[in-house]
Amino acid sequence: MRVLLTGGAGYIGAHTAIALLEAGHDVLIVDDMSGTSPEAVARVEQITGTTVPLLVADVRDRQALTDFLRRNAPVDAVIHLAGLKAVGESMAEPVRYYDVNLGSSITLLEVMAAEGIRTIVFSSSATVYGTPEQLPLTEESPTGIDLANPYGKTKRIIEEILSDAAAADPDLRAISLRYFNPVGAHPSGLIGEDPHGIPNNLMPFVSRVAIGSLPEVAVFGTDYDTPDGTGQRDYIHVTDLAAGHVAALEQATPGYDVYNLGTGEPVSVLELIAAFERASGREIPKRLAPRRPGDVAATYGDPSKAGRELGWATRLTIDDACRDYWNWQSRNPRGYAGA
Ligand code: UFG
Repeated sequence: MRVLLTGGAGYIGAHTAIALLEAGHDVLIVDDMSGTSPEAVARVEQITGTTVPLLVADVRDRQALTDFLRRNAPVDAVIHLAGLKAVGESMAEPVRYYDVNLGSSITLLEVMAAEGIRTIVFSSSATVYGTPEQLPLTEESPTGIDLANPYGKTKRIIEEILSDAAAADPDLRAISLRYFNPVGAHPSGLIGEDPHGIPNNLMPFVSRVAIGSLPEVAVFGTDYDTPDGTGQRDYIHVTDLAAGHVAALEQATPGYDVYNLGTGEPVSVLELIAAFERASGREIPKRLAPRRPGDVAATYGDPSKAGRELGWATRLTIDDACRDYWNWQSRNPRGYAGA
Protein backbone atom coordinates (compact mmCIF):
# COMPACT_ATOMS: atom_id res chain seq x y z
CA MET A 1 0.00 0.00 0.00
CA ARG A 2 1.03 3.61 -0.43
CA VAL A 3 0.31 5.37 2.83
CA LEU A 4 0.16 9.03 3.80
CA LEU A 5 1.31 9.70 7.36
CA THR A 6 0.12 12.99 8.80
CA GLY A 7 2.46 13.95 11.62
CA GLY A 8 4.83 11.38 10.19
CA ALA A 9 7.94 13.23 11.38
CA GLY A 10 6.86 13.05 15.04
CA TYR A 11 7.85 10.52 17.67
CA ILE A 12 5.23 7.89 16.86
CA GLY A 13 5.03 8.87 13.18
CA ALA A 14 8.71 8.32 12.43
CA HIS A 15 8.66 4.88 14.08
CA THR A 16 5.47 4.02 12.16
CA ALA A 17 7.09 5.14 8.89
CA ILE A 18 9.97 2.73 9.50
CA ALA A 19 7.61 -0.13 10.38
CA LEU A 20 5.57 0.46 7.20
CA LEU A 21 8.64 0.68 4.96
CA GLU A 22 10.10 -2.47 6.52
CA ALA A 23 6.78 -4.26 5.87
CA GLY A 24 7.07 -3.35 2.17
CA HIS A 25 4.69 -0.38 2.02
CA ASP A 26 5.42 3.04 0.51
CA VAL A 27 5.25 6.09 2.75
CA LEU A 28 4.74 9.80 2.25
CA ILE A 29 4.67 12.31 5.06
CA VAL A 30 2.94 15.60 5.74
CA ASP A 31 4.10 17.41 8.88
CA ASP A 32 4.23 21.09 9.81
CA MET A 33 7.36 20.44 11.93
CA SER A 34 5.80 22.31 14.88
CA GLY A 35 6.75 19.51 17.28
CA THR A 36 9.66 17.89 15.44
CA SER A 37 12.33 18.38 12.80
CA PRO A 38 12.91 17.38 9.14
CA GLU A 39 15.99 15.58 10.51
CA ALA A 40 13.61 12.86 11.77
CA VAL A 41 12.57 12.14 8.17
CA ALA A 42 16.19 12.19 7.01
CA ARG A 43 16.92 9.54 9.63
CA VAL A 44 13.95 7.40 8.59
CA GLU A 45 15.45 7.50 5.10
CA GLN A 46 18.88 6.62 6.47
CA ILE A 47 17.58 3.63 8.47
CA THR A 48 15.44 2.24 5.66
CA GLY A 49 17.51 3.26 2.62
CA THR A 50 14.37 4.76 1.05
CA THR A 51 13.37 8.22 -0.14
CA VAL A 52 10.26 9.50 1.62
CA PRO A 53 8.28 12.28 -0.08
CA LEU A 54 7.77 15.06 2.49
CA LEU A 55 5.34 17.97 2.52
CA VAL A 56 6.04 20.56 5.20
CA ALA A 57 2.55 21.97 5.71
CA ASP A 58 -0.39 22.14 8.08
CA VAL A 59 -2.95 19.42 7.35
CA ARG A 60 -5.60 22.16 7.34
CA ASP A 61 -3.97 23.51 4.14
CA ARG A 62 -6.41 21.77 1.81
CA GLN A 63 -4.77 22.86 -1.44
CA ALA A 64 -1.26 21.84 -0.40
CA LEU A 65 -2.54 18.48 0.84
CA THR A 66 -4.54 17.84 -2.35
CA ASP A 67 -1.59 18.75 -4.60
CA PHE A 68 0.72 16.49 -2.60
CA LEU A 69 -1.66 13.52 -2.82
CA ARG A 70 -2.10 14.03 -6.57
CA ARG A 71 1.67 14.27 -7.14
CA ASN A 72 2.04 10.94 -5.32
CA ALA A 73 -1.12 9.20 -6.58
CA PRO A 74 -2.41 6.60 -6.10
CA VAL A 75 -2.38 6.83 -2.29
CA ASP A 76 -4.28 3.92 -0.71
CA ALA A 77 -4.58 4.87 2.96
CA VAL A 78 -3.89 7.49 5.60
CA ILE A 79 -2.51 7.15 9.11
CA HIS A 80 -3.51 10.34 10.89
CA LEU A 81 -1.11 11.24 13.69
CA ALA A 82 -0.88 15.02 13.28
CA GLY A 83 -2.14 17.04 16.21
CA LEU A 84 -1.36 18.92 19.38
CA LYS A 85 -0.86 16.62 22.36
CA ALA A 86 0.00 18.38 25.60
CA VAL A 87 -2.71 17.98 28.24
CA GLY A 88 -1.74 21.07 30.29
CA GLU A 89 -1.34 23.29 27.23
CA SER A 90 -4.79 22.21 26.02
CA MET A 91 -6.33 23.56 29.23
CA ALA A 92 -4.62 26.92 28.73
CA GLU A 93 -5.37 27.11 24.98
CA PRO A 94 -8.55 25.09 24.38
CA VAL A 95 -9.69 26.91 21.24
CA ARG A 96 -6.35 26.33 19.51
CA TYR A 97 -6.58 22.62 20.39
CA TYR A 98 -10.08 22.31 18.94
CA ASP A 99 -9.07 24.30 15.87
CA VAL A 100 -5.90 22.32 15.08
CA ASN A 101 -6.99 18.81 16.07
CA LEU A 102 -10.57 18.90 14.77
CA GLY A 103 -9.85 21.20 11.81
CA SER A 104 -7.05 18.98 10.50
CA SER A 105 -9.14 15.82 10.88
CA ILE A 106 -12.13 17.29 9.05
CA THR A 107 -10.02 18.71 6.22
CA LEU A 108 -8.24 15.39 5.91
CA LEU A 109 -11.49 13.40 5.68
CA GLU A 110 -12.85 15.79 3.05
CA VAL A 111 -9.68 15.61 0.96
CA MET A 112 -9.60 11.81 1.30
CA ALA A 113 -13.19 11.60 0.02
CA ALA A 114 -12.40 13.91 -2.91
CA GLU A 115 -9.32 11.88 -3.84
CA GLY A 116 -10.99 8.48 -3.39
CA ILE A 117 -8.92 7.33 -0.38
CA ARG A 118 -11.14 5.12 1.79
CA THR A 119 -8.90 3.85 4.61
CA ILE A 120 -7.88 5.80 7.73
CA VAL A 121 -6.11 4.75 10.91
CA PHE A 122 -6.36 7.39 13.63
CA SER A 123 -3.99 8.08 16.46
CA SER A 124 -6.34 8.16 19.46
CA SER A 125 -5.46 7.83 23.11
CA ALA A 126 -6.40 5.88 26.20
CA THR A 127 -7.10 9.31 27.64
CA VAL A 128 -10.58 9.06 25.99
CA TYR A 129 -11.60 6.71 28.83
CA GLY A 130 -11.06 9.47 31.41
CA THR A 131 -11.03 8.11 34.95
CA PRO A 132 -11.22 4.29 34.75
CA GLU A 133 -14.14 2.66 36.58
CA GLN A 134 -12.65 -0.81 36.14
CA LEU A 135 -9.22 -2.12 35.17
CA PRO A 136 -7.97 -3.26 32.77
CA LEU A 137 -9.73 -0.98 30.31
CA THR A 138 -11.37 -2.73 27.38
CA GLU A 139 -12.72 -1.14 24.22
CA GLU A 140 -16.19 -1.54 25.79
CA SER A 141 -15.25 0.51 28.85
CA PRO A 142 -17.17 3.80 29.00
CA THR A 143 -15.37 6.81 27.56
CA GLY A 144 -15.35 10.37 28.78
CA ILE A 145 -15.64 9.70 32.54
CA ASP A 146 -14.47 12.96 34.17
CA LEU A 147 -12.58 13.78 30.98
CA ALA A 148 -11.62 17.33 31.83
CA ASN A 149 -8.97 18.34 29.31
CA PRO A 150 -9.61 19.62 25.77
CA TYR A 151 -6.80 17.46 24.34
CA GLY A 152 -8.60 14.27 25.40
CA LYS A 153 -11.93 15.68 24.24
CA THR A 154 -10.55 16.33 20.75
CA LYS A 155 -9.48 12.66 20.53
CA ARG A 156 -12.92 11.55 21.63
CA ILE A 157 -14.73 13.87 19.20
CA ILE A 158 -12.53 12.71 16.28
CA GLU A 159 -13.41 9.11 17.16
CA GLU A 160 -17.10 10.08 16.94
CA ILE A 161 -16.58 11.80 13.59
CA LEU A 162 -14.90 8.68 12.19
CA SER A 163 -17.64 6.44 13.51
CA ASP A 164 -20.34 8.64 11.91
CA ALA A 165 -18.41 8.91 8.64
CA ALA A 166 -18.06 5.11 8.44
CA ALA A 167 -21.77 4.63 9.20
CA ALA A 168 -22.63 6.91 6.27
CA ASP A 169 -20.19 5.39 3.78
CA PRO A 170 -20.10 1.60 3.34
CA ASP A 171 -16.69 1.77 1.66
CA LEU A 172 -14.90 3.65 4.44
CA ARG A 173 -12.48 1.70 6.61
CA ALA A 174 -11.76 3.64 9.80
CA ILE A 175 -9.85 2.50 12.87
CA SER A 176 -9.02 4.37 16.07
CA LEU A 177 -5.99 3.14 17.99
CA ARG A 178 -6.12 4.03 21.67
CA TYR A 179 -2.52 4.31 22.78
CA PHE A 180 -1.48 3.84 26.35
CA ASN A 181 1.85 5.48 27.33
CA PRO A 182 4.37 5.35 24.45
CA VAL A 183 8.02 5.06 25.54
CA GLY A 184 11.34 3.81 24.15
CA ALA A 185 13.05 4.61 20.88
CA HIS A 186 14.27 2.94 17.71
CA PRO A 187 17.04 0.41 18.56
CA SER A 188 19.41 2.19 16.13
CA GLY A 189 19.49 5.23 18.44
CA LEU A 190 18.80 7.45 15.42
CA ILE A 191 15.11 8.10 16.07
CA GLY A 192 13.47 8.98 19.36
CA GLU A 193 11.33 11.38 21.30
CA ASP A 194 12.49 14.98 21.13
CA PRO A 195 10.27 17.10 23.39
CA HIS A 196 10.86 20.84 23.29
CA GLY A 197 11.63 22.47 26.64
CA ILE A 198 11.12 20.67 29.94
CA PRO A 199 9.29 17.37 29.31
CA ASN A 200 5.89 16.75 30.91
CA ASN A 201 5.98 12.97 30.63
CA LEU A 202 7.80 10.62 32.93
CA MET A 203 10.32 8.76 30.74
CA PRO A 204 11.63 11.83 28.86
CA PHE A 205 11.93 13.64 32.19
CA VAL A 206 13.79 10.75 33.85
CA SER A 207 16.07 10.50 30.83
CA ARG A 208 16.98 14.21 31.08
CA VAL A 209 17.84 13.68 34.74
CA ALA A 210 20.02 10.69 33.80
CA ILE A 211 21.89 12.73 31.16
CA GLY A 212 22.38 15.55 33.71
CA SER A 213 20.34 18.32 32.08
CA LEU A 214 17.73 18.26 34.87
CA PRO A 215 18.65 17.82 38.55
CA GLU A 216 16.00 15.42 39.87
CA VAL A 217 12.64 13.88 39.08
CA ALA A 218 9.59 14.66 41.21
CA VAL A 219 7.51 11.57 41.98
CA PHE A 220 3.96 12.95 41.77
CA GLY A 221 2.01 11.19 44.50
CA THR A 222 3.16 8.47 46.88
CA ASP A 223 -0.17 7.78 48.60
CA TYR A 224 -2.15 6.24 45.74
CA ASP A 225 -3.97 2.95 46.30
CA THR A 226 -1.30 1.03 44.36
CA PRO A 227 1.29 -1.53 45.54
CA ASP A 228 4.06 1.07 46.14
CA GLY A 229 1.80 4.13 46.44
CA THR A 230 2.91 5.70 43.13
CA GLY A 231 0.89 5.97 39.92
CA GLN A 232 0.69 2.99 37.58
CA ARG A 233 0.61 3.24 33.79
CA ASP A 234 0.76 0.91 30.81
CA TYR A 235 4.04 1.83 29.07
CA ILE A 236 4.23 0.53 25.51
CA HIS A 237 7.44 0.48 23.47
CA VAL A 238 7.05 2.82 20.49
CA THR A 239 8.30 0.06 18.15
CA ASP A 240 5.47 -2.23 19.29
CA LEU A 241 3.06 0.68 18.91
CA ALA A 242 4.33 1.29 15.36
CA ALA A 243 3.76 -2.39 14.51
CA GLY A 244 0.17 -1.98 15.71
CA HIS A 245 -0.42 0.65 13.01
CA VAL A 246 0.84 -1.68 10.28
CA ALA A 247 -1.41 -4.48 11.56
CA ALA A 248 -4.44 -2.15 11.73
CA LEU A 249 -3.84 -0.93 8.21
CA GLU A 250 -3.41 -4.39 6.77
CA GLN A 251 -6.46 -5.84 8.55
CA ALA A 252 -8.84 -2.89 8.09
CA THR A 253 -12.32 -3.84 6.91
CA PRO A 254 -15.23 -1.57 5.94
CA GLY A 255 -16.78 0.09 8.96
CA TYR A 256 -15.41 1.61 12.15
CA ASP A 257 -13.41 -0.13 14.84
CA VAL A 258 -11.41 0.72 17.96
CA TYR A 259 -8.37 -1.04 19.46
CA ASN A 260 -6.39 -0.58 22.65
CA LEU A 261 -2.63 -0.62 22.05
CA GLY A 262 -0.94 -1.33 25.36
CA THR A 263 0.87 -4.12 27.16
CA GLY A 264 -1.78 -4.86 29.78
CA GLU A 265 0.91 -4.63 32.47
CA PRO A 266 0.85 -1.80 35.01
CA VAL A 267 4.25 -0.27 35.91
CA SER A 268 4.63 2.23 38.76
CA VAL A 269 6.59 5.49 38.71
CA LEU A 270 9.17 4.02 41.09
CA GLU A 271 9.47 0.84 38.99
CA LEU A 272 10.07 2.90 35.85
CA ILE A 273 12.75 4.99 37.55
CA ALA A 274 14.47 1.83 38.83
CA ALA A 275 14.35 0.30 35.33
CA PHE A 276 15.91 3.44 33.88
CA GLU A 277 18.66 3.37 36.51
CA ARG A 278 19.49 -0.21 35.50
CA ALA A 279 19.46 0.65 31.78
CA SER A 280 21.60 3.77 32.10
CA GLY A 281 23.85 2.62 34.92
CA ARG A 282 23.24 6.01 36.53
CA GLU A 283 21.58 6.92 39.78
CA ILE A 284 18.51 9.10 39.22
CA PRO A 285 17.91 11.59 42.04
CA LYS A 286 14.24 11.74 42.98
CA ARG A 287 12.05 13.80 45.25
CA LEU A 288 8.74 12.59 46.63
CA ALA A 289 6.13 15.20 45.75
CA PRO A 290 2.35 15.78 46.02
CA ARG A 291 -0.04 14.33 43.46
CA ARG A 292 -0.19 16.11 40.10
CA PRO A 293 -3.69 17.57 39.57
CA GLY A 294 -5.78 15.58 37.08
CA ASP A 295 -3.77 12.33 37.43
CA VAL A 296 -5.46 8.99 38.06
CA ALA A 297 -3.95 6.36 40.36
CA ALA A 298 -3.71 3.63 37.78
CA THR A 299 -4.60 3.00 34.18
CA TYR A 300 -3.79 0.06 31.96
CA GLY A 301 -5.44 -1.60 29.02
CA ASP A 302 -6.56 -5.01 27.89
CA PRO A 303 -4.91 -5.42 24.45
CA SER A 304 -6.51 -8.79 23.66
CA LYS A 305 -8.91 -7.47 21.00
CA ALA A 306 -5.95 -6.25 18.91
CA GLY A 307 -4.37 -9.67 19.48
CA ARG A 308 -7.45 -11.55 18.28
CA GLU A 309 -8.48 -9.36 15.38
CA LEU A 310 -5.22 -7.81 14.18
CA GLY A 311 -2.80 -10.59 15.11
CA TRP A 312 -0.76 -8.03 17.03
CA ALA A 313 1.01 -8.34 20.38
CA THR A 314 3.69 -6.38 22.20
CA ARG A 315 7.14 -7.98 22.21
CA LEU A 316 9.23 -5.54 24.23
CA THR A 317 9.42 -4.82 27.95
CA ILE A 318 9.91 -1.73 30.07
CA ASP A 319 13.61 -2.69 30.33
CA ASP A 320 13.88 -2.73 26.53
CA ALA A 321 12.19 0.67 26.40
CA CYS A 322 14.57 2.18 28.97
CA ARG A 323 17.61 0.71 27.18
CA ASP A 324 16.50 2.10 23.81
CA TYR A 325 15.45 5.47 25.21
CA TRP A 326 18.80 5.83 26.93
CA ASN A 327 20.66 4.79 23.77
CA TRP A 328 18.83 7.53 21.82
CA GLN A 329 19.29 10.12 24.59
CA SER A 330 22.99 9.48 25.12
CA ARG A 331 23.76 9.53 21.37
CA ASN A 332 21.61 12.64 20.84
CA PRO A 333 21.85 14.67 24.06
CA ARG A 334 20.27 17.67 22.29
CA GLY A 335 17.80 15.61 20.25
CA TYR A 336 17.59 16.34 16.52
CA ALA A 337 18.91 19.87 17.13
CA GLY A 338 22.35 18.39 17.77
CA ALA A 339 22.47 16.84 14.28
N1 UFG B 1 5.04 11.50 36.72
C1 UFG B 1 5.88 11.81 37.77
N2 UFG B 1 6.82 12.77 37.58
C2 UFG B 1 6.96 13.43 36.39
C3 UFG B 1 6.09 13.11 35.33
C4 UFG B 1 5.13 12.13 35.54
O1 UFG B 1 5.80 11.23 38.85
O2 UFG B 1 7.83 14.32 36.28
C5 UFG B 1 4.04 10.41 36.92
C6 UFG B 1 2.60 10.85 36.74
O3 UFG B 1 2.11 11.36 37.93
C7 UFG B 1 1.95 9.54 36.28
C8 UFG B 1 3.04 8.84 35.49
O4 UFG B 1 4.26 9.45 35.90
O5 UFG B 1 1.67 8.74 37.41
C9 UFG B 1 2.91 9.00 34.00
O6 UFG B 1 2.79 10.38 33.67
P1 UFG B 1 2.97 10.91 32.18
O7 UFG B 1 2.86 12.40 32.21
O8 UFG B 1 4.20 10.31 31.58
O9 UFG B 1 1.76 10.27 31.39
P2 UFG B 1 0.18 10.38 31.65
O10 UFG B 1 -0.28 9.01 31.96
O11 UFG B 1 -0.18 11.45 32.58
O12 UFG B 1 -0.33 10.90 30.23
C10 UFG B 1 -0.04 10.19 29.05
C11 UFG B 1 0.09 11.15 27.88
C12 UFG B 1 -1.21 11.77 27.54
C13 UFG B 1 -2.24 10.73 27.35
C14 UFG B 1 -2.32 9.78 28.51
C15 UFG B 1 -3.20 8.62 28.14
O13 UFG B 1 0.99 12.19 28.19
O14 UFG B 1 -1.08 12.48 26.32
O15 UFG B 1 -1.03 9.25 28.81
O16 UFG B 1 -3.60 7.92 29.25
F1 UFG B 1 -3.45 11.32 27.20
